[in-house]
Amino acid sequence: MNKKYYITTPIYYPSGSFHVGTCYCTLMADTIARYKRLRGYDVFFMTGTDEHGQKIKEKADKVGKTPKQYVDDFVKEAKSLWKDLGISYDKYMRTTDKDHEEAVQKIFKKLYDKGDIYLGSYEGLYCTPCESFWTETQAKDGKCPDCGRDLKVVKEESYFFKLSKYQDKLLKYYEEHPEFLEPLTRKNEMLKNFFEKGLEDLCVTRTTIDWGIKVPFDTKHVVYVWLDALTNYITGLGYLSEDDSNFKKYWPADLHLVGKEIFRFHSIIWPAILMALDLPLPNKIFGHGWLVVDGQKISKSFGNYKDPRIYINATSVDTLRYYLLREVTFGQDGNFSEELFVEKANSDLSNDLGNLVSRVTAMVEKYNNGIVNEKNAEFVEEYDKELIDCASSLLEKVEYKMDNLKINEAITEVFDVIRKANKYIDLSMPWVLSKEGNVKRLDNVLYNLVETIRIVTVALQAFMVEKPAKIFEQIGVEKELQEWDSGKTFGMLKVGTLVKKGENLFPRVENAKELFKVEEEPNEVLEEKEEYITIDELDKIKLKVGQIKAVERVENTDKLYKLTVDLGSEVRTIVSGLVKYYTEDELLNKQVVVVANLKPAKLRGIESQGMILAAGDDVVKLLVLDNNPGSLKNGSNIH
Ligand code: ME8
Repeated sequence: MNKKYYITTPIYYPSGSFHVGTCYCTLMADTIARYKRLRGYDVFFMTGTDEHGQKIKEKADKVGKTPKQYVDDFVKEAKSLWKDLGISYDKYMRTTDKDHEEAVQKIFKKLYDKGDIYLGSYEGLYCTPCESFWTETQAKDGKCPDCGRDLKVVKEESYFFKLSKYQDKLLKYYEEHPEFLEPLTRKNEMLKNFFEKGLEDLCVTRTTIDWGIKVPFDTKHVVYVWLDALTNYITGLGYLSEDDSNFKKYWPADLHLVGKEIFRFHSIIWPAILMALDLPLPNKIFGHGWLVVDGQKISKSFGNYKDPRIYINATSVDTLRYYLLREVTFGQDGNFSEELFVEKANSDLSNDLGNLVSRVTAMVEKYNNGIVNEKNAEFVEEYDKELIDCASSLLEKVEYKMDNLKINEAITEVFDVIRKANKYIDLSMPWVLSKEGNVKRLDNVLYNLVETIRIVTVALQAFMVEKPAKIFEQIGVEKELQEWDSGKTFGMLKVGTLVKKGENLFPRVENAKELFKVEEEPNEVLEEKEEYITIDELDKIKLKVGQIKAVERVENTDKLYKLTVDLGSEVRTIVSGLVKYYTEDELLNKQVVVVANLKPAKLRGIESQGMILAAGDDVVKLLVLDNNPGSLKNGSNIH
């Protein structure tokens, strides 16, 4: 019997479009799942969507859909993206699935009967975007400590989960299982932030929302979305359902992969719930970092995201996978830079891997009619051994790194061998051997190269989804020599193998700026419906007269100016996309309409402290107040 491996990603909120940041976790999980399958594990890989809660209800209302319609549309979009990214999940979990809803009700009842859930009343603060409860002391200046947004005061009758009861048991568990929470820095941070003050019981129902799972014995209460969501890891396997065979087979999970901001839910609340249910705990919870652009988390709310398909369509799915797997140190934040993306695509993929395959296949065709000939023991050089040693030990090195979740180091090992093989071509100079008629030495060299490509490609199957099959086809390697363990022995490649040069695997990326351009606003899943605002809401918008005092181009973009704007009593920096429409001189000294109380946002690393109003769709014109600047006082209110 194969060993089992159960791996999960978080279930995503259907709250907008996916971006490279949200894809990151699923891509990492997919890589680990593929690797484990290659190693012969019986893998169950689950991802899905977290579909209940106030936030989803609000989103659905906004676009005039029922919550169910809204989440159904989102799931279609999500599944199509996962297909484009080559995500090999075994189950797509939805918290609106009937089985899940019933199981959550049973879990709630079980915990209530046990006395671990009790009725009380809650008074405190709530962050709707994060669906998190906070105490006064945890809140930062009245704002959510996680996302910085406003908190709502909530006062209602609620059921509570006795989290405090599990405090000591949790601490003991962490101590006895040092591998349970990783990376260590995140574990320590969590222990410091939440255990030093002591755990409080957790509010696990809401009475003021109805888009959720009802408490079976008190239906005015809806189960708190995090309790609903966390249990997906067991309900998705059929826990407390008629068919719980997957639960019996796969639980406990081997790895829950989650982003750092939801690590605390997974490392405190989830294990406590499992303890209360008398279930074994997962083997490992790993909190990865964020993908950032210019230091800012890629996120829908910061507007610094693009549809990942832009990168896939411009290059290939394996190019995007390579960049994310290689360039982000797993566990830490990683910068997503389009410049670096192109650089890596061209240097590592086109120059190193693509060229290796095309050079070697071309040489075997040219010198040996595409046939890999037998090696000859007499025509060996010292540097052959170096390449052979490197290639033969590759899979073991990759195993070691992958088993320790050092994904970026694992893929680096593969590319080290690729670079070595290119160097080997330069050292052995097959074209000279051919010219000199040194046929036997040439056979050895070509065999060593094709065999190295085979081993490298065996390893690449964990990281890439399209190109490995194409490489195997070009080097004529059959199924059994594509298997993981076959890559541990150098020399398995059969004499007489027929090599056939094929398409260019990684064409160079040219003109990236054009390719990565977003024509319209990034693919919103749902279009916002026009809505009226009230006079009070209008009154919230503070418009002021501002005068442009200085204009600078923002580096590395062909759209943005950094403007210094005088608002009378203060001077603001405002980043504005006016490059296409105005020269620097044309803007200088203009008096314009400024939205003065817009929340500052970072654009290309510059804090923009307001917005300048403009009109027009194709050609944009500023709303200039007076062409004789000076007649209006800077900073005057506009009514
Ligand atoms: O938190 N870089 O869902 P979610 C890396 N429904 N990861 C990122 C990221 C970025 N820029 N932006 C988001 C939820 N993520 C809950 C989970 S699980 C029982 C319930 C990651 O859609 C984020 O860290 O807000 C998280 O792990 C995942 O996307 C889903 O976030």
